Amino acid sequence: MKPVRVGLLGLGTVGGGTVTVLSRNSEEIARRAGRRIMLSHVAARNLERADELNLTNVRLTEDAFAVTNDPEVDVVVELMGGYEPARTVILKAIENGKHVVTANKALIALHGNEVFAAAQGKGVMVAFEAAVAGGIPVIKAVREGLSGNRIEWVAGIINGTGNFILSEMREKRRGFADVLAEAQRLGYAEADPTFDVEGVDAAHKLTILAATAFGIPLQFERVYTEGISQIAEEDISHAEELGYRIKHLGIARRTADGVELRVHPALIPYRRLIANVDGVMNAVLIKGDAVGPTLYYGAGAGAEPTASAVVADLVDVVRTLTSDPENRVPHLAFQPDALTDLRVLPMEEVKTAYYLRLQAADRPGVLADVASILGDRGISIEAVVQKEPLPDVQFVPLILLTHRVSERQMNEAIARIEDLESITGSVKRIRVEHLNA
Ligand code: NDP
Ligand code: HSE
Repeated sequence: MKPVRVGLLGLGTVGGGTVTVLSRNSEEIARRAGRRIMLSHVAARNLERADELNLTNVRLTEDAFAVTNDPEVDVVVELMGGYEPARTVILKAIENGKHVVTANKALIALHGNEVFAAAQGKGVMVAFEAAVAGGIPVIKAVREGLSGNRIEWVAGIINGTGNFILSEMREKRRGFADVLAEAQRLGYAEADPTFDVEGVDAAHKLTILAATAFGIPLQFERVYTEGISQIAEEDISHAEELGYRIKHLGIARRTADGVELRVHPALIPYRRLIANVDGVMNAVLIKGDAVGPTLYYGAGAGAEPTASAVVADLVDVVRTLTSDPENRVPHLAFQPDALTDLRVLPMEEVKTAYYLRLQAADRPGVLADVASILGDRGISIEAVVQKEPLPDVQFVPLILLTHRVSERQMNEAIARIEDLESITGSVKRIRVEHLNA
């Protein structure tokens, strides 16, 4: 059978990894796909990278559109990243009747509805396994392995850079900026690393996970997004003393009132498996009504782990080349005309438990004032830790863990606590997730 010819866009971290994996495992891949998969046309801005990767017998160009317009190319693999020109290039590939594989979660989260509609119209596939949780085949699991379930919630560590930073800060007491620079050197971080540290990348991935889990449209703009840049080393230590680890989580949960879509740091009891997922590793917990909780673990970023997902998508595309487009696995798991528009809960209506850190004057009555503000709003306290005052220091850290309460009530309570004359500075709040099955 004729080989399948691939046009590759981008020769950076993931593009380079994809070239390496396709070449090293070409025999195994062909045995699985039923045909050889060969690179035929590659676009990169820096063509010296093609020499470093030993790319021979391949057409090279600096123009991505030369690849999408090449009649010899069957499948386009987009690994450039960013919104433009990636969006226009992918739409052009689809218009030209080519299947697409992409790792671009930013693009899928924001423009996926448009891209999938175009692909549907042309009867081509757009595969995006590498867009969520790097090398973990979690899209495959949600879309196919769990298709008999009503999925109740998804909670995951879905940004490798953020998890690497939090792990190094906790284990080695390293500074935030130093670890971020290392994540960039290792190729984990996005071109704009604020996407990693401010939670935007995780929000892109959660948007995709929620759509495939619940059969709702992609709606990135409705995800509550908070990153890890405000996590202090002392919060990591206090959490540890209380039996928790701080992780950055993406959570999508059905409730009776709507769907929660949120990414933010959270304290998780350290005895949970997911609390022990460290470094660049990711993990996604998915609770289905039939199967119960399931956990998917693996490298969340990096050249070859991500290439593993890109190549798996290529194999999937090749296997279905001859199948009837109407009978393929739908892009977002549910048939396009069967998506529902469940209400997304505003963050103020979401209920969680909280960790609060206050700087309190070291004198009698302060704790009683704080407890009464919380009590007036029906917020019960689970634990209190008051640190020993240092000599000549007027304010001491006061740490509280609360039971579950709505974000609105907690916002009101925090505002009142910050007004107390015995409290200095702002109250640090981190949500607590027990992730009970
Ligand atoms: P890199 O920045 O390492 O690579 C991107 C490559 O694309 C660079 O070589 C860049 O060239 C090239 N490029 C950018 N624009 C164009 C263009 N217009 N025409 C031709 N080439 C272009 O990024 P990554 O490999 O890290 O990421 C690629 C995609 O994969 C992104 O969508 C990212 O979010 C996603 N991803 C990344 C993971 C990772 O671990 N790194 C994991 C999962 C997904 P130049 O170097 O000249 O800028
Ligand atoms: N920057 C992303 C991360 C790459 O660190 O998770 C993988 O999507």
